[in-house]
Amino acid sequence: MTEQKQIYRCNVCGNIVEVLHAGVGQLVCCGQPMELLTEKTEDVGLEKHVPTIEKVGNKAKVKVGSIPHPMEQKHYIEWIEIITDDGTCRKFLKPGDKPEAEFEITAEKIEAREYCSIHGLWKTK
Ligand SMILES: [Fe+2]
Repeated sequence: MTEQKQIYRCNVCGNIVEVLHAGVGQLVCCGQPMELLTEKTEDVGLEKHVPTIEKVGNKAKVKVGSIPHPMEQKHYIEWIEIITDDGTCRKFLKPGDKPEAEFEITAEKIEAREYCSIHGLWKTK
Protein backbone atom coordinates (compact mmCIF):
# COMPACT_ATOMS: atom_id res chain seq x y z
CA MET A 1 0.00 0.00 0.00
CA THR A 2 1.44 3.33 -1.00
CA GLU A 3 0.47 6.92 -0.16
CA GLN A 4 0.46 9.98 -2.37
CA LYS A 5 3.78 11.94 -2.29
CA GLN A 6 5.79 9.02 -0.89
CA ILE A 7 9.20 8.65 -2.50
CA TYR A 8 10.73 5.25 -3.21
CA ARG A 9 14.27 4.33 -4.32
CA CYS A 10 15.64 1.21 -5.99
CA ASN A 11 18.84 0.30 -4.18
CA VAL A 12 20.05 -1.71 -7.20
CA CYS A 13 19.79 0.75 -10.10
CA GLY A 14 19.11 4.04 -8.31
CA ASN A 15 15.67 4.78 -9.79
CA ILE A 16 13.70 7.17 -7.59
CA VAL A 17 9.93 7.57 -8.00
CA GLU A 18 7.17 9.57 -6.35
CA VAL A 19 3.66 8.22 -5.84
CA LEU A 20 1.09 10.41 -7.60
CA HIS A 21 -1.85 8.06 -7.04
CA ALA A 22 -1.85 5.53 -4.20
CA GLY A 23 -2.44 1.85 -4.84
CA VAL A 24 -2.44 -1.39 -2.90
CA GLY A 25 0.53 -2.95 -4.71
CA GLN A 26 4.15 -2.97 -3.64
CA LEU A 27 6.59 -1.03 -5.82
CA VAL A 28 9.25 -3.29 -7.32
CA CYS A 29 12.34 -2.43 -9.39
CA CYS A 30 15.21 -4.67 -10.55
CA GLY A 31 13.35 -7.64 -9.09
CA GLN A 32 13.12 -6.40 -5.52
CA PRO A 33 10.90 -4.14 -3.40
CA MET A 34 11.78 -0.46 -3.60
CA GLU A 35 12.81 1.29 -0.37
CA LEU A 36 10.41 3.89 1.03
CA LEU A 37 12.49 6.98 1.84
CA THR A 38 11.64 8.50 5.19
CA GLU A 39 11.84 12.26 5.58
CA LYS A 40 14.40 13.32 8.15
CA THR A 41 13.81 16.55 10.06
CA GLU A 42 16.71 16.71 12.53
CA ASP A 43 20.28 17.47 11.55
CA VAL A 44 23.01 15.34 13.08
CA GLY A 45 26.73 15.82 12.52
CA LEU A 46 28.44 18.52 10.50
CA GLU A 47 26.36 18.36 7.32
CA LYS A 48 23.23 20.47 7.43
CA HIS A 49 20.24 19.26 5.43
CA VAL A 50 17.00 20.48 6.99
CA PRO A 51 15.46 22.98 4.54
CA THR A 52 14.36 26.41 5.71
CA ILE A 53 11.74 28.62 4.04
CA GLU A 54 11.94 32.42 3.81
CA LYS A 55 8.60 33.78 2.63
CA VAL A 56 8.38 37.33 1.28
CA GLY A 57 5.10 38.23 -0.41
CA ASN A 58 4.36 35.63 -3.08
CA LYS A 59 7.91 34.28 -3.10
CA ALA A 60 9.24 31.46 -1.01
CA LYS A 61 12.98 30.89 -0.95
CA VAL A 62 14.07 27.48 0.28
CA LYS A 63 17.65 27.07 1.50
CA VAL A 64 19.33 23.83 2.45
CA GLY A 65 21.46 24.01 5.54
CA SER A 66 22.33 26.75 8.01
CA ILE A 67 25.80 26.13 6.58
CA PRO A 68 25.22 25.78 2.78
CA HIS A 69 25.19 22.12 1.77
CA PRO A 70 28.01 20.96 -0.60
CA MET A 71 27.11 20.94 -4.32
CA GLU A 72 29.86 18.62 -5.56
CA GLN A 73 29.72 16.07 -8.40
CA LYS A 74 29.04 13.09 -6.11
CA HIS A 75 27.36 14.88 -3.22
CA TYR A 76 24.74 17.49 -3.91
CA ILE A 77 21.12 18.48 -3.45
CA GLU A 78 19.32 16.93 -6.42
CA TRP A 79 16.02 18.71 -5.97
CA ILE A 80 14.07 21.05 -3.71
CA GLU A 81 10.29 21.07 -3.61
CA ILE A 82 7.50 23.03 -2.00
CA ILE A 83 4.38 21.18 -0.91
CA THR A 84 1.03 22.90 -0.35
CA ASP A 85 -2.50 21.54 0.00
CA ASP A 86 -2.89 22.10 -3.77
CA GLY A 87 0.18 20.24 -4.93
CA THR A 88 3.93 20.16 -5.32
CA CYS A 89 6.36 22.42 -7.14
CA ARG A 90 9.88 21.08 -7.65
CA LYS A 91 13.16 22.49 -8.93
CA PHE A 92 16.05 20.27 -9.95
CA LEU A 93 19.60 21.35 -9.13
CA LYS A 94 23.02 20.45 -10.53
CA PRO A 95 26.48 20.26 -8.96
CA GLY A 96 27.84 23.80 -8.76
CA ASP A 97 24.41 25.41 -8.23
CA LYS A 98 23.54 27.06 -4.93
CA PRO A 99 21.67 24.71 -2.57
CA GLU A 100 18.53 26.84 -2.75
CA ALA A 101 15.46 27.44 -4.90
CA GLU A 102 12.84 30.15 -5.22
CA PHE A 103 9.14 29.53 -5.84
CA GLU A 104 6.14 31.76 -6.57
CA ILE A 105 3.56 30.67 -4.07
CA THR A 106 0.33 32.11 -2.73
CA ALA A 107 -0.57 29.38 -0.21
CA GLU A 108 -0.07 30.18 3.47
CA LYS A 109 0.67 26.65 4.62
CA ILE A 110 3.80 25.37 2.92
CA GLU A 111 6.38 22.69 3.59
CA ALA A 112 9.65 22.00 1.82
CA ARG A 113 11.47 18.76 1.03
CA GLU A 114 14.88 18.19 -0.48
CA TYR A 115 16.89 15.20 -1.62
CA CYS A 116 20.65 14.86 -1.03
CA SER A 117 22.42 12.39 -3.34
CA ILE A 118 24.13 10.79 -0.33
CA HIS A 119 22.07 11.58 2.75
CA GLY A 120 18.55 11.10 1.37
CA LEU A 121 15.26 12.87 1.93
CA TRP A 122 14.76 15.83 4.30
CA LYS A 123 11.80 17.97 5.23
CA THR A 124 11.05 21.18 7.14
CA LYS A 125 10.05 20.54 10.75
FE1 LIG B 1 24.41 15.60 2.17
